[in-house]
Amino acid sequence: MPRLVDTGPVLAEMMPMSSRRLTVTLGAIVASVACFLVGMLHCGAAEPTTARRKETRPERTPAERDATARQLREIYRGDPATWPAPSVDPGVEWREVGLLQPVVHPESNPASTAKAELGKTLFFDARLSASGKVACVTCHEPGLGWADGRAVSQPQGSGPARNTPTIRNVAYQSNLFWDGRAASLEQQAEEAITNPREMAASRDEVVRLLSGSEGYRKLFADAFPGRSIEFARVVEAVACFERTVVGGRSRFDAFLKGDAAALSDGELLGLDLFRREARCLNCHHGPVFSDGLFHDLGLSFYGRTQKEDQGQYAVTGDPKTNGRFRTPTLRDVTRTGPLMHTGMFELAGVLKMYNAGMATLKRYDYQRDDPLFPVKSPHLKPLGLNRQDLVDLAAFLGTLEEPGHPMRPPVLPDLGDAGIAPSP
Ligand code: HEC
Ligand code: HEC
Repeated sequence: MPRLVDTGPVLAEMMPMSSRRLTVTLGAIVASVACFLVGMLHCGAAEPTTARRKETRPERTPAERDATARQLREIYRGDPATWPAPSVDPGVEWREVGLLQPVVHPESNPASTAKAELGKTLFFDARLSASGKVACVTCHEPGLGWADGRAVSQPQGSGPARNTPTIRNVAYQSNLFWDGRAASLEQQAEEAITNPREMAASRDEVVRLLSGSEGYRKLFADAFPGRSIEFARVVEAVACFERTVVGGRSRFDAFLKGDAAALSDGELLGLDLFRREARCLNCHHGPVFSDGLFHDLGLSFYGRTQKEDQGQYAVTGDPKTNGRFRTPTLRDVTRTGPLMHTGMFELAGVLKMYNAGMATLKRYDYQRDDPLFPVKSPHLKPLGLNRQDLVDLAAFLGTLEEPGHPMRPPVLPDLGDAGIAPSP
């Protein structure tokens, strides 16, 4: 069984409080520090690509901090095109972080107010699910950053259970799900409605229910004039609604629009760290803070049958992609935790893991020729950031939070006689 070798003190911090309390005693902390040091010696030999620990850079004095923040205010005052170049590795096709542009709806599913309204109603309607109790909104809750606050969604059926991502700004993502198995929101909605772990509904049953409802017949007629109620229209409406769920009102957006006071000194220092010393732009770039690509961060539980999640490999069948997951957006990330596809981490822990260059798997002899041995992304390196830096980085991510605007739930149409399940 593979062992994580360079996670010692990080491991304790990165777990959510509740599990930390259970598992980490003072003795364990001491032991894990020892482990960490031993691990550092080992990791170079175990996997040649593993970077070594980097010296933590000294903290700034309050006066130095003030002076740096003043300089950064000047540097970051103008258009992002004038900002200093970020620290990205050669070959990375990065885009600057910035304001979200208006969503482009696909030609095959043009937007209309009526269609989005129908989609919203369907999104909130649990009566379409097999149990009558699960709707999209059950797991993508507006008040919880359009996620669900749980570690992973209820495991049912086969395959790995995963953390629920936000659907805010999902219109800007071209590879959907943690593993990229859906290429469009239409395809994704179809899977969510029929997936036994989510709504577990049958296409025919959904169409039967909706066709029997006068209220829904009216909503469909407005959204799709002259078309009959079909399952394909259902997923188009849901996808159309999802494309209207966009952000862009965060303090960082206000800063980008020219309100210099929208970011505090610490947040500004955090922005600069994010783009440069912390190297985050290697993967979290562009207006949604995601490259839309897949990377291995060493979190796939390789070799542990019960827990292993092969990520993109299950979709591509290409061994090189084992353990890779799609880079999530960081907009509103302070409200969509717990984090990562495993839902095992809180923000402070995630930042500590990045600072350590993420965990590295030790390759055992019998795994030497395993083509599925996950290879951690070469963009991850120990960063040497100090405690203050990590606080600033977290503060910057906090500026991506969207202001809370509770969404008024739609009025669900009466299902009429169709709402009564047919006798088997
Ligand atoms: C039981 C909880 C649950 C329900 C119900 C649910 N989802 Fe999800 N949703 C998830 C989880 C978990 C994932 C990630 C799954 C994965 O990547 O394998 C996800 C992923 C998504 C994604 C992809 C997001 C991204 O960034 O790639 C979209 C879009 C989405 N869901 C929309 C919907 C819609 C629309 C519905 C209703 C038709 C729905 N979900 C119902 C839990 C749920
Ligand atoms: C090699 C590409 C890469 C780099 C560099 C990178 N990330 Fe990530 N990030 C990812 C991927 C991929 C995930 C999802 C991994 C998973 O769940 O297995 C992720 C997840 C996250 C999450 C959790 C988001 C969520 O919704 O669960 C946060 C927060 C985060 N990254 C912040 C950062 C910060 C801050 C930096 C810079 C210190 C950074 N990342 C650098 C690729 C990267």
